[in-house]
Amino acid sequence: MGDPCLWQQAQSVDTFDAPHLHALIADMEETMLSLDGAGLAAPQIGVSLRVVIFGFDDNPRYPDADSVPYTVLINPVLTPLSEEIEEGWEGCLSVPGMRGLVPRWYRLRYTGFDQYGKQIDRIVEGFHARVVQHECDHLDGILYPARIKDFRCFGFTDELDAPSDCDSPEPA
Ligand code: NI
Repeated sequence: MGDPCLWQQAQSVDTFDAPHLHALIADMEETMLSLDGAGLAAPQIGVSLRVVIFGFDDNPRYPDADSVPYTVLINPVLTPLSEEIEEGWEGCLSVPGMRGLVPRWYRLRYTGFDQYGKQIDRIVEGFHARVVQHECDHLDGILYPARIKDFRCFGFTDELDAPSDCDSPEPA
């Protein structure tokens, strides 16, 4: 956080199945896996293209989350399918050591392409929908702290996990 690349509107990909695209995705996979991320967007490694990856079976950063299939999603379009909003805790590899309670659409459809240009079209909900929204926000220069409604529910993971004499705030 602080790198101007993270505040930019990323560019659409216009050439699929190209060596530079495969190299970018390999680099993103390595970064995501080495940091136990649930997802990663290209701007997070300094490449301003509309490419995100996400997915895991088990994730130590989100121990209660259901698995999400590993997905490469390029030029994504998200469409909420109901008015329902769910709040959930998020972290971000670009905001290390912190967590915040973020409202997201509960259920949505997403479309886009994989790295070979094959169309992706899915309807998802819950944590899967949350991860997609978080990663796609990166393509529009939005980091999750900008979506937090109650800043009492934002802080350092160590502090949030630590026992405190203070009463915990009720989520808004
Ligand atoms: Ni992130």
